[in-house]
Amino acid sequence: MKKWYAVIGDPIAQSMSPNMHEFWFNEENMDATYIPIHVTADQLREVVEGLKNLGCSGWNVTVPHKSAIIPFLNQLDSSARQMNAVNTVHVLEDGTLVGSNTDGRGFVRSLEEATGEQCKDKKVLVIGAGGAARGIAFALQSAGYGPIFFTNRTLEKAEQLATELTESMVLSTAEAELALSEFGLIVQTTSVGMNFAQNGMPLNPENVSEGTVVADIIYNPLETEFLTESRKRGAHTLNGVGMFVHQGALAFETWTEVRPKTGFMIEKITTTLGG
Ligand code: ATR
Repeated sequence: MKKWYAVIGDPIAQSMSPNMHEFWFNEENMDATYIPIHVTADQLREVVEGLKNLGCSGWNVTVPHKSAIIPFLNQLDSSARQMNAVNTVHVLEDGTLVGSNTDGRGFVRSLEEATGEQCKDKKVLVIGAGGAARGIAFALQSAGYGPIFFTNRTLEKAEQLATELTESMVLSTAEAELALSEFGLIVQTTSVGMNFAQNGMPLNPENVSEGTVVADIIYNPLETEFLTESRKRGAHTLNGVGMFVHQGALAFETWTEVRPKTGFMIEKITTTLGG
């Protein structure tokens, strides 16, 4: 029987996940489909029941349901527990709903696809201390990266996050700006620089040095001002398309045990976004 998968969120029309997963199902000759479903917060409980009862094999979860969905699931893997957020639900044969979070590991895979292991054993600076920063920092740490430093507009949030990781420290924005040249990897996880949301940069990249890997998880625009300025100083820059594609590929693997091709998808989405 044809299998079906979904993504739930509010809003959902802008999601690129349906096209990506449909493409992979076709490419892998799998009899499956993937649909976007608009779900408001008050509908979440009944939608989860409905998806399960209607035979959905798995779904992605996006804003604003990533944490709210947790009480309605049966199990969480370690990534979802660490992040207290779920972006992928897998429905097992017996109906058990297992939540996981592929965002952080998606980032690490995109980093390693683009730069190999050159950032291992180098100091890492994570800008931001929200959900994205948390997922990426845990995934980097479990992949053997670090020490990890955080800097954030609200310093207390960075301090709290740092206590949860081993060998982690916090810098004020001014301290981070002065020390930028010491880092082998800088990861920008805030919403600063996103189209229509907030212009500008989270900190001044003047001291970024040549050869540093600077990643921004934003993919719209493809190149934030922070990446442009870092690139001008000789940094190797990476936008958020790779992380988006790899988090999706990890969800696809969770459901199907097949690893889809990511390189072509990154090119395709980059073109769609005007690159
Ligand atoms: P996400 O899940 O995308 O990480 P989040 O948990 O709301 O979203 O976290 C947003 C991050 O962007 C936070 O680090 C936030 O800083 P604060 O902790 O000080 O709020 C950061 N951020 C958002 N707008 C910002 C701005 N205008 N300047 C600097 N940092 C900003």
